[in-house]
Amino acid sequence: MDYSKVKIPNHVAIILDGNGRWAQEKGMSRSQGHQAGFDNLVELSKHVFDTGSKVLSVYAFSTENFKRSKEEVSFLMRLFENKFVEYAHKLKEENVRVVFSGGREAPVKQKLIDIMNECEEITKDCTKGTLNICFNYGSHLEIVEAFKHIHEDINNNVITLDDVNEDLLYHYMFQDLPPIDYLIRTSGEVRLSNYMLYQMVYAEMYFPKTYFPDFNNEEYDKALIEYTKRDRRFGGINYDDKNN
Ligand code: IPE
Ligand code: IPE
Ligand code: MG
Repeated sequence: MDYSKVKIPNHVAIILDGNGRWAQEKGMSRSQGHQAGFDNLVELSKHVFDTGSKVLSVYAFSTENFKRSKEEVSFLMRLFENKFVEYAHKLKEENVRVVFSGGREAPVKQKLIDIMNECEEITKDCTKGTLNICFNYGSHLEIVEAFKHIHEDINNNVITLDDVNEDLLYHYMFQDLPPIDYLIRTSGEVRLSNYMLYQMVYAEMYFPKTYFPDFNNEEYDKALIEYTKRDRRFGGINYDDKNN
């Protein structure tokens, strides 16, 4: 595809959904679906940065996902423990920085918290783009934490109440990233499931039916073609539109 002919969103967010159904429909275990989803993420994330986007946020595990069976949760934790560092090294080769958003405390094990810190350290000087892995992430948790930190900083005279505005709130999120331009949720579900509500204010949204393990580079390019057709008005009027 000729990427100069499509619009490239600065910040893309993907809700990686449908791993379980992908596997079940093939007579495989849900774990195999998660493995396939992770392998796809490694390929897809490289592609997203190659097309020119600067930030990619991916929803890997929500605060609510701890409600799943012990077997599924522990499989996912082991998958991340075994794969994150290797993934960070690959991203470093691509000059992509990795950061994590989400609660870094129990029920996440200390070993995994150490791994997340290590991945951030390995890639901290990379400049091509930022991969934000949302893990033990919930938008409600993020906003509540931001509130607490703002309160603390006001009490400690780091900021004043007058400093609190829409932009400042971004600095108090788990990671200081720009607003989301394009949200993609695979698998056909049309909901946000507690994902980046503050950052999503004017995001365009796309809900392909494809399960995440099948959402390959070609599927992503279709998403870019769709994004190119969107008329982003941000509450104003597009004066280029001849019908206006
Ligand atoms: C998304 O796939 C991955 C995680 C939530 C960790 P699901 O596991 O939600 O797959 P479905 O929705 O059951 O098919
Ligand atoms: C959202 O998917 C969370 C992740 C993709 C990590 P879920 O599969 O957990 O969401 P619901 O339960 O269908 O809303
Ligand atoms: Mg799901």
